[in-house]
Amino acid sequence: MLKEKIEEALNTQIKIEAESSQIYLAMASWAETQGLGGTAQFLYRHSDEERMHMLKLVQYVNERGGKALIPKLEQPEKEYSNLHNLFQTLLNHEIHVSAEINNLVEICLNEKDYTTHNFMQWYVAEQIEEEALARTIMDKLNMIGQDKGGMYLFDRDIENISVSSSITPAK
Ligand code: FEO
Repeated sequence: MLKEKIEEALNTQIKIEAESSQIYLAMASWAETQGLGGTAQFLYRHSDEERMHMLKLVQYVNERGGKALIPKLEQPEKEYSNLHNLFQTLLNHEIHVSAEINNLVEICLNEKDYTTHNFMQWYVAEQIEEEALARTIMDKLNMIGQDKGGMYLFDRDIENISVSSSITPAK
């Protein structure tokens, strides 16, 4: 049985993952309307991954005798001035998610819930990979600057971009 404090923290994380999925879906849709098909596909996929992160938490909470709460979500930002702006927002968001996950891990330790602590390690590793990927993308965009040819290649190549971090979690 989950302690109330842990259940509450996990439900907060469910909302964060749901928000992430929604934000990336809005980003994907914006990219698609800008003719950035590769970027759109990358972001649609990223949005799906966040939904999977949320689902894993929902099922974990229910399996452990808690009640997963499906949250109400705000409408995400729908306009971006350019790809730099979009991916900087994404990187900042992932940094925020990592901080929230670290906070949850700390609550698990304080509450001596080692099962949830163990479950959360997958998310800790996933965040390392997600932040690394977002930083790699920002590095590429900074290198390209305003070069249109570079942007064309970026959009073509991003569909297949991946980064292996020092800890690669099993999907
Ligand atoms: Fe599920 Fe991108 O954090």
